[in-house]
Amino acid sequence: MELLSSWCYDGSLPESYVMPPERRPGNLVIPLEKSIPVIDLQCHDPKDTIQQILKASQDYGFFQVINHGVSEELMDETMNVAEEFHAMPGLDKERECGKGANGSCKLYTSSYAYSREDFHYWRDAVTHPCRPLDERIQYWPEKPTRYREVVGTYSVEMWKLSCRILEFICEGLGLSVDYFSNDLTQVPKIMINHYPPCPAPSLTLGLSKHCDPTIITILLQGQINGLQVFKDGRWIGVQPLPHALVVNIGYLLQIISNGKLKGAEHRVVTNSRYARTTICFFVYPRDESLIEPAKDLVNASNPAIYKAFKFVDFVTAFVLNPDDTSEAVKELITPNP
Ligand code: OGA
Ligand code: NI
Repeated sequence: MELLSSWCYDGSLPESYVMPPERRPGNLVIPLEKSIPVIDLQCHDPKDTIQQILKASQDYGFFQVINHGVSEELMDETMNVAEEFHAMPGLDKERECGKGANGSCKLYTSSYAYSREDFHYWRDAVTHPCRPLDERIQYWPEKPTRYREVVGTYSVEMWKLSCRILEFICEGLGLSVDYFSNDLTQVPKIMINHYPPCPAPSLTLGLSKHCDPTIITILLQGQINGLQVFKDGRWIGVQPLPHALVVNIGYLLQIISNGKLKGAEHRVVTNSRYARTTICFFVYPRDESLIEPAKDLVNASNPAIYKAFKFVDFVTAFVLNPDDTSEAVKELITPNP
């Protein structure tokens, strides 16, 4: 495995990144006239905020939040540290990510299953769990020098924001507000993606069409376009808004809501001019957590449309089939007729 960011490529896209025509991004110029909803969290009527979040989660599975309470300075600092990390030489990155046992900090390129992929994706990534912080932080990179301090503070803010958004969602769905205050959300992870400028954006992708295997995801995407959401059979671009955060509903919340909320499919396209760095906060359950439609949302007229499964089995199905994650989990979640 060699990281994309440490290559000296000769200006052409290597064969292993060229997708078959049906998987290529198609028209790269996506009209921005239809965009995902933008929700102001400082709005003074919580009922209204809940309604907006619920509607966006049903219609799009995606929304952006503004006035979310996370300081702009912290967001900028975190983005700077993230960019500095990916700008370090490959060997430094490997050393900085090798401080703990397997899983405590992972560095990879393309997807988590590089060796099993039919073709590769144009991105590098580093990921590590971030709670409880004092147990996890000792395995994080120590270079750039401010990495632990800044990313640690950012992860605490993301944790608070994710709890707040999940409380809104609980109220909207009619679940008790502490429905997610348990094993369902206790293993959040930070992931810092980096998509270098790409020699042939029309032939490849930064990330293939997928739905996150999370409860929710909060994304800081910086200034560069690249994220697209699949809605009603077409792709919509997620326009970068300064200091907004992008929130998406994960597959697990789609299941827990018994299909009421949509774990939207999305992908990342590349561009030939600018590097793009993004920071994800993934809200994950513990491995042994049982994922199933919430009992309060299921009754005789609304039967469960998904089977119960252990989170670890779901993740395994995902990892085993990096090129088509939706096929991989279909069998696992579909109830017997
Ligand atoms: C992801 C993802 C979007 C982006 O990492 O799951 O969808 O813009 N990232 O990097
Ligand atoms: Ni994603």
